[in-house]
Amino acid sequence: MNQDELKKRVGHAALTHVPEGEVIGVGTGSTVNHFIEALATMKDRIRGAVSSSQASTARLQALGIPVFDCNDVEELAVYIDGADEIDPHGHMIKGGGAALTREKIVAAQSRRFVCIADESKRVATLGRFPLPVEVIPMASGRLIRQFADLGGVARLRLANGAPLVTDNGQHILDVTGLQIPDPLAFETRINLWPGVVEVGVFAQQRAAVCLLGTAQGVVTLTY
Ligand code: A5P
Repeated sequence: MNQDELKKRVGHAALTHVPEGEVIGVGTGSTVNHFIEALATMKDRIRGAVSSSQASTARLQALGIPVFDCNDVEELAVYIDGADEIDPHGHMIKGGGAALTREKIVAAQSRRFVCIADESKRVATLGRFPLPVEVIPMASGRLIRQFADLGGVARLRLANGAPLVTDNGQHILDVTGLQIPDPLAFETRINLWPGVVEVGVFAQQRAAVCLLGTAQGVVTLTY
């Protein structure tokens, strides 16, 4: 089974975590795209969704699923999203799709985070995947030097030869060469650096459950 088939399996398995009659939080990425497709089959049994990106909003709306503004909804029962890495405690690296800030905002408004991922995303310690950090453009030069002081190499993410611009109008640095054994301390530290909008370590908003797609089937991990 290839990676996309594993993503599809967990995307569909996530329906069992969708409470009826609620507004749910929906993430971003290729795994979530499969979840959105599955969600459309039960769209009459939910009130709608709060979305973490313009891309997911467009997909949800195209399938007839109402999308609410974050500020028009209070607590969300669940947030369902993918990850670039997940460690044995449910801490994640996210932001490969550049949506990390909105993903963290919607996750923070949700009672539990259900992560959907194929088994390649499982790691012992975060840091193999280049860490995405959303930054205010005027701060990126200094932030690249600050990451170098930690032993990391930060590069500005490009799209079609120009700096990628996020849904929030900001830039993304991708940082390689870091090992993150204490994700909560790391997240807190980096988010204090002036010019950082959000770091792609999800420790405060870690997963409560991970539906992991493996060759043997979908495995449910709880943290
Ligand atoms: C989007 O910004 C990310 O956080 C995604 O959740 C993450 O990159 C996983 O993406 P895939 O589901 O496409 O692997």
